[in-house]
Amino acid sequence: MLNTTLSLLRCPRLKTGSKNPAQRRQGPKSPQHKRSPCRGALSLTSQKKVEIATSPDVFEVVSGHLECKVCRSRFPILAGIAILVDSVANYLIDHAKGIAQAVSDSEIPAEYRKDFLQAKAQIQLEHIEDDLEAERVVSLYIMNHYLQANRSVKGQSREDGKGEGLEARSPWWKPRGAAGSASSEGPRREGNPALQSGVAFPGSKLIDTLIREYWDQGPFAQIERWVSHQKNVSKKSLNAVELGCGVGGLYPVLKNHLRSYLGVDSSFVSIAVARHLALGMPYRGSIRIPEDLLQGPVSRPVTFPSASSAFGPSRSSGVPAGSRSPLADGSSDFIVGDLESLPLHSEQWDLTIALNAIDMMDDPSLLPQLQRELIKKDGIAIQSCPYIWHPGVAKRLRKKLPEGKRTSSSAAVEWLYEQAGFKIEERALDIPWLFFKHVRQLEIYSVHAFVSRKA
Ligand SMILES: C[S@@+](CC[C@H](N)C(=O)[O-])C[C@H]1O[C@@H](n2cnc3c(N)ncnc32)[C@H](O)[C@@H]1O
Ligand SMILES: [Zn+2]
Repeated sequence: MLNTTLSLLRCPRLKTGSKNPAQRRQGPKSPQHKRSPCRGALSLTSQKKVEIATSPDVFEVVSGHLECKVCRSRFPILAGIAILVDSVANYLIDHAKGIAQAVSDSEIPAEYRKDFLQAKAQIQLEHIEDDLEAERVVSLYIMNHYLQANRSVKGQSREDGKGEGLEARSPWWKPRGAAGSASSEGPRREGNPALQSGVAFPGSKLIDTLIREYWDQGPFAQIERWVSHQKNVSKKSLNAVELGCGVGGLYPVLKNHLRSYLGVDSSFVSIAVARHLALGMPYRGSIRIPEDLLQGPVSRPVTFPSASSAFGPSRSSGVPAGSRSPLADGSSDFIVGDLESLPLHSEQWDLTIALNAIDMMDDPSLLPQLQRELIKKDGIAIQSCPYIWHPGVAKRLRKKLPEGKRTSSSAAVEWLYEQAGFKIEERALDIPWLFFKHVRQLEIYSVHAFVSRKA
């Protein structure tokens, strides 16, 4: 965690016997007995810190803790990642798989270590499709967020000149038969014998066309256009918070338009990867993506110039003394947090973004309420999702909706945002969004996305 992030954070410990602000508005008939976070200010104690920017005031807290000035709860920082959740003990157990990829056992605070080691010993190796701490699942998002099918996109340099040199997205796609002809638009070949032999991908013209036309034109591209427009209209770069940011690839896409950015997600390994790929922080795990599953779930290593340039080739989690990251400058960061008890200060942001998160929530109406609380007057919320509802969530949501909104997820979600006090300004109803599961499974989603303004 960067020390500059501290002022944005609040204590996420849920208070006993209180409702969260969304429920207070809903009144006594609020369905769940949810509690609201303490929201006390936090103080930072760094055990190990490293200077990372040209300013002597900015440093990375590699290990340490945050303590609430009100309820005295403590939240650890492990391998540079602040864990700001209601129950740290439960989090370390539930997320042991992801934490074990990035943190050594000895770094786990002593009071939690025994239970953590027990949970780690029970980690299941089989592939669980929606386990967001599993290497294979996270690798799919890494591909989606950082790999470009058609061309190499240099990280856009920011107005202040910082962040230059990041090659945020790299070309990766090449169909069978084309691998023999070297081209600057071809896939990355390092360490990839399958690509060099030209037999990595099936030779379907349809699949090739789909990937070439749509891989680079999904929701990120649409959101970049919207945010760029908002910046031009407001004539200032925006400060943004992304909820459920996953591996953080939207930040390099938007950063040219942003003054600052904070990504929040409950997946430890996603935040570790986000800080590595988008900020240049060290990451001890390897980054691999799927290819032919006969070779294993993630058989193809990928290298990212941004990852290796920040701190050299070392894969250790300790930041070498005196290293400076060209990407982290104190204005952007990623933390672990839970949408059910957000560790954030209210009314701080111009822009809040949530992609593919609303359908993961038990109560989807909470998301627009959270986004509304986070932004300033006239702030913007961007929402995007293909709505893969759990049947139980869909059933509860249907009950909340007025009759005219019950037949379409897009109408239902827009209604939820209007109810929370937003006015929809722009929408895209069906953005094709490609997900590469492995060389024989390409998924196509149809995504609904919109821009809404705090009314
Ligand atoms: C479907 S993924 C989408 C990731 C990314 N936004 C994208 O569109 O590629 C949903 C993300 O939300 C996160 N998530 C799910 N429930 C959460 C919660 N209660 N609090 C914080 N993050 C959550 C998951 O860890 C995951 O990274
Ligand atoms: Zn507190």
